[in-house]
Amino acid sequence: MTFDELQLEFKERYQTGEGNLKAVFAPGRINLIGEHTDYNGGYVLPCAISNGTWLLAQSNSGGVLRFLSLNFSETAEIPIDKIGEKSKVSWVNYPLGVINQLLARGLKLTGLDMLFYGNIPNGAGLSSSASIEVATATLLNHYFNLGINDLEIVKLSQKAEVEFVGVNCGIMDQFAVTINRKNHALFLDCRTLDFELVPLAFDGYKIVICNTGIKRQLAQSKYNERVAECAKAIDFIKQVHPVDYLGQLTLSQYNSLKHLITDSTIRRRVTHVVTENQRVLDAVNALKNGNIKLFGSLMNASHHSLRYDYEVTGKELDVMVEEALKVDGVLGARMTGAGFGGCAITILNETAVDSFIDQVGERYKNKTGFIPEFYISETNDGAKMILL
Ligand code: GLA
Repeated sequence: MTFDELQLEFKERYQTGEGNLKAVFAPGRINLIGEHTDYNGGYVLPCAISNGTWLLAQSNSGGVLRFLSLNFSETAEIPIDKIGEKSKVSWVNYPLGVINQLLARGLKLTGLDMLFYGNIPNGAGLSSSASIEVATATLLNHYFNLGINDLEIVKLSQKAEVEFVGVNCGIMDQFAVTINRKNHALFLDCRTLDFELVPLAFDGYKIVICNTGIKRQLAQSKYNERVAECAKAIDFIKQVHPVDYLGQLTLSQYNSLKHLITDSTIRRRVTHVVTENQRVLDAVNALKNGNIKLFGSLMNASHHSLRYDYEVTGKELDVMVEEALKVDGVLGARMTGAGFGGCAITILNETAVDSFIDQVGERYKNKTGFIPEFYISETNDGAKMILL
């Protein structure tokens, strides 16, 4: 769907538009490494991708918010005085949560007609939710001249997901979708929010996104359970070592106290977080030194840790990664995002892409019965207004 076609759709569906039509694009993201570390105050290294969400909006004088999406058949029309209530249409709660956050920051809302369209596969772990949230926040910020800066857009979008949608997510996705730049990965310290945009020198290599075809439902999955397990670990560790987040523990500090964690499940969760955090630091150095081979092996170690210590992969992601690693020219593969289905990513020699898709596609289908999809990932900038 081109942007011109989207504008036509908007005009056809909303016949009565009155104010200026404005539009924004917000990308999705992949995370190269640093999984389940963000809500632990650790490090992450995501990139924004070319797939994303378009949002077109125009004010109306009817005093209502209208939500349409080309991806979902359900629509909503909500009077402005009812926007504090959750919608029965589940996708609408993402933009609605953001609008509620903006109201708390002084937004004086008028009626608004909105049309969403996204080409991020839904439930694939590529952050379609953060993309919708950040698109909404960025567009309304411009539409109503709120003067909110990017960091605040990130924070309020995450808050919307936690408080309105009910997923205790970290800040990585909203950060990546807002702040990232093309040809860069975002090295973010999720505790201090200090970040660095690290150039991606992947000459001769490609990143392929491998969709298992298994949708994950973040709110209903074990995500919140992992967040709770990490909180439990911190309560325990605090008694012997002064930390507020698992991400503050260095490997050597952890090694000296891990025998005190008697619950073996909790211990494995912490092992993942602490080792993953170190892997992000090592991966950033590898990138800066142009050592793509090392980068690939850190991705492999990350998947192993997510599989055995954090237990968030599942059969399909494991088969995808195992099959990916059998192909000549592949340097690394791992799940990306929350896990429990969704996508893996792999880094491979660009000459191996076609045979990779053929081989892994066939073997994955034979072993799991699901049809995978593959996308060659291009990096992207964070959210941008495209029609002022
Ligand atoms: C989801 C969450 C993120 C992060 C990842 C796991 O994408 O939204 O905040 O926790 O899972 O790394």
